[in-house]
Amino acid sequence: MTTSPEILSPQQLQAFNDDGYLVLPNFVDDAACLALRERALQLAKDNVPSPQEATIFTADSTAQHAADEYFLTSGDKIRCFFEKDAFDEHGVLRSEAHLCLNKLGHAMHDLDPVFSAFSRTPQMAAVAQQVGIVDPLLLQSMYIFKQPRIGGEVNSHTDHTFLWTEPQSVIGFWIAIDDATTENGCMWALPGGHRIPVKSRSKLNAARTATITEVFDQDPYPTEGLVPLEAPRGTLVLLNGTLPHRSGPNLSDKPRHAYTVHVIDGQANYLADNWLQRPQLAMSGFNN
Ligand code: FE2
Repeated sequence: MTTSPEILSPQQLQAFNDDGYLVLPNFVDDAACLALRERALQLAKDNVPSPQEATIFTADSTAQHAADEYFLTSGDKIRCFFEKDAFDEHGVLRSEAHLCLNKLGHAMHDLDPVFSAFSRTPQMAAVAQQVGIVDPLLLQSMYIFKQPRIGGEVNSHTDHTFLWTEPQSVIGFWIAIDDATTENGCMWALPGGHRIPVKSRSKLNAARTATITEVFDQDPYPTEGLVPLEAPRGTLVLLNGTLPHRSGPNLSDKPRHAYTVHVIDGQANYLADNWLQRPQLAMSGFNN
């Protein structure tokens, strides 16, 4: 077994345990961030849906089933997810694909060599080990574009709600590919909020055709007390899976690209009715 270098100081580990998040500037160098950025834009162009496929993104409600399926079967693929209103009523993109994407998801880390190498560094493995993941499995990746002026807000949520294991094990590795600030829609998190019992679980319906939400607590997460997690390019933001976090819209003229890998512990039970399934791809760790 290889030993990993220690990346986090005891104080940083303590802060992560106390707050439920940790901001680590200079985790990835600029060149690697820029290479991932370029690769993401290429993947966006390569994987843009055909005009026929794109009709599923129109407002036509009969297309809802197809849209659900496009999302629910994306766990082991590289797919494009668009900002609201990216398509006109005929399913035609209003501008170039890479300029109106919300995100790419959800298996770039397994299917694309540039993303795989970015996701599987000794530093990432070391952090996973230090935060207590015994058997790390890279479950999901997302490349989030948060485009200038149209990048939408993400409401307060916990990642455990969507990527449920028993016991809870998901940790988010969020890396700023562009500088993230309060102007361009950085994340906000509630310090210590990871101790609040998770309020809901999103899971597949019995027919496995859509997601439903199981609500344990009707009260929303606190809206007061969240702090901005401003993050220059190359910063790693670690997020406990039960930490409430959100991000605002990007109303600025600056992009706010970010890359997230969600890692779970293979020792925990990943539930069969989680929305994210990977029938064509086994999950693997940092060394594969
Ligand atoms: Fe999240």
